[in-house]
Formats: sequence, C-alpha cells, structure tokens
Amino acid sequence: MDRNLALEVVRVTEMAAVACARLMGRGDKNLADQAAVDAMRRAFDTIQMDGTVVIGEGERDEAPMLYIGERVGNRVQGAPQIDIALDPLEGTNLCAYGRPGAISVVALAYRGCLLNAPDTYMEKIAVGPQAKGHINLAQSPAENLASIAKALKRSIQDLTVIILDRPRHEALIRTVREVGARVRLIEDGDVAAAVSTCIGSADVDVLMGIGGAPEGVISAAALKSMGGDFQGRLKPRNEEEIRRAKTMGINDIHHIYTAEELAKGDVMFAATGVTGGEFLKGVRFYGGSCETNSIVMRSKTGTVRYISATHRFESKPPGYS
Ligand code: FBP
Repeated sequence: MDRNLALEVVRVTEMAAVACARLMGRGDKNLADQAAVDAMRRAFDTIQMDGTVVIGEGERDEAPMLYIGERVGNRVQGAPQIDIALDPLEGTNLCAYGRPGAISVVALAYRGCLLNAPDTYMEKIAVGPQAKGHINLAQSPAENLASIAKALKRSIQDLTVIILDRPRHEALIRTVREVGARVRLIEDGDVAAAVSTCIGSADVDVLMGIGGAPEGVISAAALKSMGGDFQGRLKPRNEEEIRRAKTMGINDIHHIYTAEELAKGDVMFAATGVTGGEFLKGVRFYGGSCETNSIVMRSKTGTVRYISATHRFESKPPGYS
C-alpha cells in the first residue's frame, strides 16, 4: 500500500475530530457523531483512493453517509482500491460528556482484506508486543492472565487489565480480581483501550471483555501494526444477529479470529484524539486555529508516527471551524 496514503488519510480523522470536538460536553452524542460523520465524509473526497466502506455507520437504509458499501475517495483513474473500516467518533458518550478517551479512527486494507463484521458484539483480548502469541480466547481469562504474566516475566498481581464497565462483565471482573490482577474499568472506547496495551506509558497490559464487533476489526488493524496481538469471537445477541452474520458470509459464529484474519495483509491505521486520553491529546482550540494530535501506522513497516498539527480555520474548507 502506498506509504503516502497513511499520511494522507490522517486528514479524515483530523477533520472528523475537530468537527465533533467543537460539540464536546453538549450532552448530545448524536449531534457530535453526525458532525464527525459529515466532516469525515467530506474529507474523504480529497484522498486519492477508490475506497469502499466495509465497516461504517450502518446499512445504507439506516445511515445516509459512510454506510456499508459506500464508495469514497476521489476515485481518479489508477487510484488504489481500498477497503475502509471507520468510526468517525469512537466513544460518542465520552465526547458528549467531555470525558477522556474519545477518538476518530480509520483502518485501511486492500480490497477484501478486512472482515466485514456484522454490527453485533465481539469477545476480545488484546496485548502488547511482549505478550504476542501468548493469548488464546479458547482458554479461560485466568489461564490467559497466567500465560501473559509468564510472557511479561511478571506476577499476575502486577498486570493491569482494562475492561468496559458493563453488567455483562461482572463474572469476568470477579475472576480478574480473584487471580489478583489490577483492574481498570472504562465507560466506553475499547479501540483506544486495545491500542493502549501497546503504549508503554499507558500502564495497561491486557484488554478483555465484550465490545462492538466493528470496533474489534479496527482494533485488530492497529494492534497488528504495533506488533501487539488480538483475538476476537463474535457474540451475537439473538437469532437475527446470527442470520445477519450468515448473510455476510460468516458461517462459524464461534470462530476465534486472529488479528490477521480480521485485518489481512498490509493495513494502515490512523486515529486523532477528540477528548484527551491515554495516548492522544484531545483537540485544543485557540483563536482562529486548533491543534490536533494523531497516530498513524502501517503494518508493513511497523512504523508508528505521532502527528501534531495546527489548523488555521481561515485557510481550511468549511466544516473545520
Ligand atoms: P460508540 O462510539 O458507538 O458510542 O461506542 C462506544 C463503545 O464503548 C465501543 O468502544 C465499544 O466497543 C462499544 O461501545 C460497547 O458497546 P456497549 O456500549 O453496547 O456496551
């Protein structure tokens, strides 16, 4: 994949982040999400690619923009054919209430290389590079923690496990506490949480628990690029979700996906902070300008870039300010 594309595509997360960060704390997650979607959709037109949204805002009849199957990019002759998994505002409530950890995010791969995940839940486990190859969703949480601790040459008591704070995780949280690991509970945003396992300063070793399946594919692309590890298993809530998964080509609903199966081959990942979090600062506004902080990575080289940008509103297209 053209390495310049990674630097280009960060514009779409920057633009989405700026648009929704403006609406931080209004208490209206739909308003913030819509602003991010509109801005990201506009920004895609400036990128040289023939892109297809495979993970987006929903089905065509329920999402007018960035729906599954929508073609994006300037689609000039010879532009690379790319599949895109996107979330213009990951952590809608975090932004709506001004809490840390909201990001704007995209993952890119060659056509056919991202799992077209249905909009259901996924059980996930993610770790940083040192514990790569030492996770297995077929095993219990206690067994995984023992294996990760061994890989990190630490005691289980010195591991930090990040988990979405949900009633469905009651048993998981109890187990993690029983084996003696430290627990960090978060309100939302398991993509940022998965990425934080690869960021030393974040002091997080493992993500565990059930979150959105689309977010799982995006996380897998990031973890793969950062040399970490990720596994996911779909957790449909009802027969309708199982039927939907089947129409999307998923026959074994219990299959444990590796990061490579979720995001095959050469992938790219870009994210921009909306509200300040573990690994990205949020958007800061000044008179007539703002600053964004983004992370961009490519699995082919494993290069991780942090991009800090100052945007002057007077010289930007409408939608930035
Ligand atoms: P939104 O940005 O769509 O609000 O998703 C936030 C999120 O916390 C994801 O990071 C996570 O995968 C999912 O919601 C968990 O779903 P639920 O809120 O239903 O537990």
